[in-house]
Amino acid sequence: MAAQDTAEQLLHLKLAFLAGEPPASVLSLARKAGEGSITPHVQHFLLENCTSTNVEGRQNCTYTTTILKRIIAEIELSSGIVIDELYEEFAQRMLSKAKDPLLNKADYIYKEISFLPSSDDNTSPGLVSMVARLSCSSNMLEGDTGCSLWPSSLFLSEFILSYPKIFSKKCCLELGSGVGLVGICLNHIAASKVILTDGDSSTLTNMKENMELNNLCVGGEHPKLLDECTNKVECKYLSWEEVSESDLGGCQPDIVLGADIIYDPICVPHLVRVLSTMLRRDGYQGKTNGTSSDEFVTEGPIAYIAIVVRNVDTFNCFGKAAADAKLSVVNITSNAAPANFLPYMLSYDRSSVQLLRITSSS
Ligand SMILES: C[S@@+](CC[C@H](N)C(=O)[O-])C[C@H]1O[C@@H](n2cnc3c(N)ncnc32)[C@H](O)[C@@H]1O
Repeated sequence: MAAQDTAEQLLHLKLAFLAGEPPASVLSLARKAGEGSITPHVQHFLLENCTSTNVEGRQNCTYTTTILKRIIAEIELSSGIVIDELYEEFAQRMLSKAKDPLLNKADYIYKEISFLPSSDDNTSPGLVSMVARLSCSSNMLEGDTGCSLWPSSLFLSEFILSYPKIFSKKCCLELGSGVGLVGICLNHIAASKVILTDGDSSTLTNMKENMELNNLCVGGEHPKLLDECTNKVECKYLSWEEVSESDLGGCQPDIVLGADIIYDPICVPHLVRVLSTMLRRDGYQGKTNGTSSDEFVTEGPIAYIAIVVRNVDTFNCFGKAAADAKLSVVNITSNAAPANFLPYMLSYDRSSVQLLRITSSS
């Protein structure tokens, strides 16, 4: 393998580890970097660049121990050479675990999601690589859905980074923001205002922590206090069932975003009500005078919603409710495919995600 390819494979291995990719994916990349086996060179790389590093000074103990265990088992099974340092690191971790069992019982895991612009990508020539640090539930089945990172938000983030002009200098509001990855991307491409919302309070607390992990100022109920801060994101409680028309009327985003928010048929009518109020064109104060040279100027607010269709009935129920509310829903997945900024993320199935563009005719 050429030296440049090896360096790229090793970089992917490191980024997959920092992103908390499933152990099977990390092992697969380790094998690839060693051209079929986890060589002593790859093991040294793992020790120096992965297992000894941590996200924001926080160690993901259980995760790291699992990866080490799986690697040692695989190499031994194939009668390869396990370097002494790898055994020592594993033994050290097992000893610490025996001394302090709580060390391995963290409810949250820290992930670093790195968006890598590829050299042959011409959709986003100005993009420099971007890293988002996130605290996510260590077991998504036990945590709230909003404390996990879902493929739709990876897709929506790639879309934002691929087409920054759509969002830059616009007021962007996300519904059901979860861990807040989309907000970090919107801030990166210089949206004029970023408002993240969620209807679950523990998710909102975790989201605010994530904004701070990424050095963003968090505004909530008192956004005016943050006027002087340029890197700011507002994090607000917004339940689709509870929010009133007047609360929604006070909020006039140019762009509404959502990732994996259409999955519960009970929530669909409430979500459609929120969307149709936010997308109303009457009274829209956006750039509609036609004098701007901005090719992304629009006649009214637009929503971009990324979804994985797990249940066709739920999706059809959304389509019907949207049509009744005079919303036009267009699937733009194939026309506006984002660039692949996450080449190391083997667990992310980009093809499972669809992107909807929604506008209102009223
Ligand atoms: C599947 S998660 C997706 C989270 C994030 N957008 C992502 O893709 O990683 C759905 C999110 O919508 C929020 N949510 C669900 N129902 C809601 C409702 N009725 N009102 C407000 N937020 C809601 C949840 O708290 C959760 O954060």
